[in-house]
Amino acid sequence: MTTVIKGGTVVTAGDTFAADVLVAGEQIVAVGRGLSGDTIIDASGAYVIPGGIDVHTHLDMPFGGTVSSDDFFTGHRAAAFGGTTMHIDFAIQPKGASLRETLDLWHAKAAGKAAIDYGFHVAITDLTDAVLAELPQSIAYGVPSVKLFMAYKGVLQVDDATLFRAMQQAARHKVLIMVHAENGDVIDLLVKDALAAGKLAPKYHALTRPPELEAEATARAVRLAEVAGAPLYVVHLTNAGALEAVRLARARGLSHQIFAETCSQYFFFTKDDLDREGFEGAKWVCSPPFRSAGDHAALWQGVADNSLQIVSTDHCPFWFAGGVQGRVPGKELGRASFAQIPNGCPGIEERLMLLYTHGVRTGRISLNRWVELCATNPAKLFGCYPRKGTVAPGADADVVVWDPEARRTLSAATLHQNTDYSLYEGWEVVGAPRTVLSRGRVLVDDGQWRGEAGVGQFIHRQPFGR
Ligand code: URP
Ligand code: ZN
Ligand code: ZN
Repeated sequence: MTTVIKGGTVVTAGDTFAADVLVAGEQIVAVGRGLSGDTIIDASGAYVIPGGIDVHTHLDMPFGGTVSSDDFFTGHRAAAFGGTTMHIDFAIQPKGASLRETLDLWHAKAAGKAAIDYGFHVAITDLTDAVLAELPQSIAYGVPSVKLFMAYKGVLQVDDATLFRAMQQAARHKVLIMVHAENGDVIDLLVKDALAAGKLAPKYHALTRPPELEAEATARAVRLAEVAGAPLYVVHLTNAGALEAVRLARARGLSHQIFAETCSQYFFFTKDDLDREGFEGAKWVCSPPFRSAGDHAALWQGVADNSLQIVSTDHCPFWFAGGVQGRVPGKELGRASFAQIPNGCPGIEERLMLLYTHGVRTGRISLNRWVELCATNPAKLFGCYPRKGTVAPGADADVVVWDPEARRTLSAATLHQNTDYSLYEGWEVVGAPRTVLSRGRVLVDDGQWRGEAGVGQFIHRQPFGR
């Protein structure tokens, strides 16, 4: 059984050309002119791009006194509607658990629910000697990337010695170290000061986590990785100061070792969004927080000049009005104090549309760079290229037929994320998926869900740099 995606313009990270794409079973078998197949998907007037890969998500994650509201089915369905066909989720190590036990917990969350392909990173919160010894096994587990938090004191944070030990071990075994880079010790002091002064509104979340503390932690992580010789990937970078630390490292010869992402939301919002009327600002509470318009410009420059290699989402949705109608608790947990607001925002569905509308259509990034940032670099840096992240013979048929003129108004009412708000409520985007395939199966066609729970596969990824 073959399918031909016919009459479109194929866009990869390197090329843009008119071609048909022939799919047999789960793979692309040919890309060229005049191909025919048993079934035809019309791509005339459309781009044919590799499915998006989101390397930073938190599905079904216990956090902030509750659990993120998308699971491995609802999150996958939303991802697919937005043109994302693979994601890599953070398996958070419960204190005392081995890495194997941690991953087994996350495999169980995905079992029977997954509708797109997925991978895991392990987030190490308790680096015992046994876990340090087990770390090289992450390669055999198909999870060659581990994350450590430099913030969330008393919950997820590790100290510098722990981070450095993990880096040394990672350097020996080609494991990519990922960091949430904020100075958690100083943030903890600032939060205590704010609470003592009765400063409880959502905006104090941003004011107690200033950009300098992210810039400082980013520079520290970079320097520690240099000493350890470990490959480093800085997650959810938000501001010009942190970007400068990454840019300087790459300029002094470490472009093969130091990498960073930003997330779609950081191009658009500022700390003033946390000061919206009433409790509304809680919707924008995430860490690191939103910054300033000047930082937006710096981030656009960073993705254009390759100081930033990936745009992900840090999708970590919570209900705004949770704890009612069968919903798990959400942002309302923090009505009395910003320090109790679960940190995180939805966004897995909107990423490609936002980057296309505000990046490609405005000329800030090229069409090819859009594909590179959202699909190809994620696959390359995270060990699944060229199986994923490109449109070429031999690749999995994770393909999106992208209508460059489709107009959508983003709204929680029509998006598919399991939450009651979108940061982009009422925003118009131009450019959206028409048809989305995962390993040759149509998941979304013309706005209709045709996917299935349980068919998404765990992707065993290769060690860093292979
Ligand atoms: O606020 C956020 N980003 N929540 C998810 C956890 C993390 O820090 O990535
Ligand atoms: Zn984080
Ligand atoms: Zn995150």
